[in-house]
Amino acid sequence: MQPSERLIVALDVGSRENALSLVAALRPKVQRFKIGMELFTTCGPPLVREILEKGGQVFLDLKFHDIPNTVARSAVAAARLGVGMFTVHLSGGSMMARRAVDELEAHCQVYRVPRPKVLGVTVLTSLSADDLQQLGVGRSVEDQVVALAEMGKSAGLDGVVCSPREARLIREACGRDLLIVTPGIRPEGSEQDDQSRTLTPRIALEAGADYLVVGRPIVKADDPLEAAETILLQMDGA
Ligand code: C5P
Repeated sequence: MQPSERLIVALDVGSRENALSLVAALRPKVQRFKIGMELFTTCGPPLVREILEKGGQVFLDLKFHDIPNTVARSAVAAARLGVGMFTVHLSGGSMMARRAVDELEAHCQVYRVPRPKVLGVTVLTSLSADDLQQLGVGRSVEDQVVALAEMGKSAGLDGVVCSPREARLIREACGRDLLIVTPGIRPEGSEQDDQSRTLTPRIALEAGADYLVVGRPIVKADDPLEAAETILLQMDGA
C-alpha cells in the first residue's frame, strides 16, 4: 500500500463547514477520513454521504458496545451508509463481535455492496493498570490488549485499533492477517498535545501498523495539506 492509502485523518472538528473545508484542502493527498462521536453526533449521516460524494473514504469511529443484536444492526446500518471501516469495543465480548461480522457479511452479499472493515478497540489508552483492576481485570494492560486482539481475530474481525506501542505485541501474537490501526502518531520533532504514548509515523509502521490515524498535527496546522505531506514523506521512509 502507498503511504496515502495508509494515512487516516481524524476530522476532530465540531461543524460540517470545518470538516468539509479540511476534506477539500486535503483531498489531493488524503483519501481516508475518520469521523468520531463528536462530529457524527453533530452532523450525522448527511456529512458522511457528502464526504463519500467528494471521493473520500470514511472510517466511522463510534466504538459500538451493546448487546449483539443492537451492534449487528448498527453494523449493517454502517454498511448501508457506505463507510469503509468502523469500530466496535472488544470488551463487548466475542458473541457481539461475531454477530456483527456475520450479519454484515450476509447483508453485503445479498445487496452486493463492499463489506466495511470491522475494527476492534482493545483497551482505551486512557486506562491504567489501576483502572483495569477496578473493572475486575487482573491482567496487565499489555496482556489484556493481546487477549482482546486474539479474541477479536477469532471472532472474525478484520483488525484492531491500538496504541502504536502495542502494535508489535499484537502483530507477534495475531500474525500478518489482522489489520492494525494506530492513533497517537506525532511527526518527528512536533508537539505531543495530550497524547503521552506517541510514536513517529516511521516507527509506528515499523512496529507493524497498517494504518495511522492522525488528528491534531494535521487538523490544527496552519497549512493542513503541507502537514499531511510532511507525514506522508516520513511514512514513505519506513
Ligand atoms: O489529535 P490526535 O492525532 O491525537 O488524534 C488521534 C485520534 O485518534 C483522535 O480522534 C482520538 O479520539 C483517537 N484515538 C486516540 N487514542 C486512542 C483511540 C482513539 O487518540 N486510544
